[in-house]
Parts: sequence; C-alpha cells; structure tokens
Amino acid sequence: MLDFYPLAKPVFHSLDPETAHNLTIKMLSRGLTGKIGRPQRFDRLKTNVFGLTLSNPVGLAAGFDKNADTLCGSLALGFGFVEAGTVTPKPQSGNDKPRLFRLTKDKAVINRFGFNNNGLEYFAGKLSAHKCPNGGIVGANVGANKDATDRTADYETGVRRLYGLSDYFTVNISSPNTPGLRALQSKAALEDLINRVLDVRSEKVAEGLARIPILVKIAPDLTDDDIRDIADITLSTEIDGLIVSNTTIERPQSLKSTSKEEGGGLSGAPLMEPSTTMLRRVYQAISGAKPLIGVGGIASGLDAYCKIKAGASLVQLYSALVYEGPGLVEKIKSDLNRLLREDGFSNISDAVGKDC
Ligand SMILES: Cc1cc2nc3c(=O)[nH]c(=O)nc-3n(C[C@H](O)[C@H](O)[C@H](O)COP(=O)(O)O)c2cc1C
Repeated sequence: MLDFYPLAKPVFHSLDPETAHNLTIKMLSRGLTGKIGRPQRFDRLKTNVFGLTLSNPVGLAAGFDKNADTLCGSLALGFGFVEAGTVTPKPQSGNDKPRLFRLTKDKAVINRFGFNNNGLEYFAGKLSAHKCPNGGIVGANVGANKDATDRTADYETGVRRLYGLSDYFTVNISSPNTPGLRALQSKAALEDLINRVLDVRSEKVAEGLARIPILVKIAPDLTDDDIRDIADITLSTEIDGLIVSNTTIERPQSLKSTSKEEGGGLSGAPLMEPSTTMLRRVYQAISGAKPLIGVGGIASGLDAYCKIKAGASLVQLYSALVYEGPGLVEKIKSDLNRLLREDGFSNISDAVGKDC
C-alpha cells in the first residue's frame, strides 16, 4: 500500500490535537485513507477468538471513533476489528478544552476527554447503517454518564439498546476521566455490574438473539489484590474476556515533554511496559482460561508480538497512529507475520502466552 501520511503529518501536527483528530475522522468517513491499495491478508494471522473469526488480530482501540462515524473507513486501514465508543446513554460534551495533548518527545498522548459523545441513539443509528465492503468485526464500548445516579444501570441500558448491532461489547470501567468510574473495578461493585450486564444478555438470548461476547476493560494501575479479585470474577462468571489496558494515571520519570503534567490518562510508548506487565499478570492469574486483548503502547510488529506472547489473543492500538499514521497497521501485520514465521508458529493462536 502507498502511504501519504509522512507528507501530511507536519500539517496535522501543526493543528491543535483535537482539531487534527476531528479532521482525521471526517477524512476517513469519506473514504480518504491516505493510502492506495487493499489490506494484506495473511493466513498465519487469521484467528478465531470469542467465537468470532478475525482476518488478523490487530484492532483499533476505543476512543478513536467515539460515535461510530467511520467504522468502514477504519477497517479499510487493514484492522481486523475496530472498537467504537465509549458511548454513554445520554449525549454529553465531556470536559473543557483543551483536553488532548501530544507528548511528541515521548511518542505519547494525554487525554482527559471525559466521554464526550453523541449518545446511544446516534451510535445505534451508525451501527445499524454500516455495511463494509470487506466485512470486519465491530465492537461497541459502553460507559456511564457523568451525572448518572446509578452508573451500573447505564451499562445495562447500553448493552440492551445496542444488542444485536455489534459483534461484541466492552464494558469500560477504567477511564480515569469520569470521577469515581474506576471504583467499579472493586470486587463487590464489579460483581454486581457484571451480573446485571450478563442478565441483559440472558434476556436477549431467551428472546432468540445470538449470544454476543461481553468483555471488561481494566486499568493498568491495579494492585495485586485488585488483579486477584478481577481474575476470580472473570473465572466465576460468564464474562468472555478482558481488555488490558486503558490509559494510566501514572507519570513515569522518563517523560520529557512539557505537557507531561497535564491531568488525564497517559497512553502511547510509555504505557507499553506497564500495560504488558499487567497483561502478563492477568494471564497468569486466570491461567489463560479466557482470551485477553492486549493494548497499550503498541507501535510495531514486535510490540504486538510481545503482547501476544505475554498472553493476548488479540491486540489494539490508538496513540501510535498519531505519530506513525495509518500505514502502521499494514506494517505491524507484515512484521508480525514474519516474526511468527521466524519462530516457527504456523498460526498466531499458537504463540499466545508463550513467554508467560
Ligand atoms: C484520545 C484518547 C481517547 C480515548 N478514549 C477512550 C474511550 O472513550 N474509551 C476507552 O475504553 N478507551 C479510550 N482510550 C484508551 C485507548 O482505547 C487505549 O486503551 C489506550 O490509549 C492505550 O493504547 P495506546 O497506547 O495504543 O493508545 C482513549 C485513548 C486516547 C489516546
């Protein structure tokens, strides 16, 4: 594929980050991917996870397409799956601007958007209307409104309204930008949340609809006790898997950029090591019993391979696209294919958890 991003990058990076992002979404939704050619297909990367068949394990992480505006445009970049959202029941404007910062020297991003989105009805309309020429898996990432009195009820509402419109759901309880949200990761709150969301699925299945996989997305900033509790709940309920991880509230000493003290969640290169360590610990805690999606800091085929060997069945990325552009997806796929071949793996699924 030809990639024009190196030429366009200085223009995008001369804009304020949120404006550049909104422009990117508009361009993608109009079919302007900045690339010419069809995504590559590798048999070695084809995989079946959560009962879904994916052409490759590389996905677009949540937050890039909050309103499901450009599902087909994103899939056309070569992703095996895209996760839209986070969507909340009611539309909300999020935190005051500026709320998105590039940490260029660190190849990182800080955001404190606070779930700005157009709400469930808009999102449902986009999911119902989409039909991508080459198919592809679409996940719906659901959250809670900031002013909700019963946050757990917001997750039930999201899953109920979108049921049947997406290939899987992610219950996002790990955004650092909605005050108190991460408290839902504590044992009692999480158990209640998961049981209530799973009850919605049981209702739908009883009505004759298919069983849609439901995943939970967790933070990278968890203690050993938190991991043990989450592992217990993952194993004792019908939840299908976990996404590890969201952005971090930590600020590593190594950060060099002037924006490093901005509040919010840090993502990109500095998150690679801590989120992969968390992934490995979660994989060990559940003894590989359910699939994990590894996300945080992936910027190369080798990074993706590390996540897979640490226990991820699938991977996702977002921040590296800001620095490397959309051509990165195809590069990661071909490098991953080569790395697997060199290590003698005939399929990606054989490498999962191999260095745990
Ligand atoms: C600008 C921005 C907005 C994000 N918004 C969301 C969101 O709405 N929901 C969510 O689950 N994760 C969100 N994330 C987190 C990403 O999905 C991902 O977990 C995290 O950025 C780590 O991956 P990365 O280092 O490849 O970016 C957001 C990340 C960024 C950079």
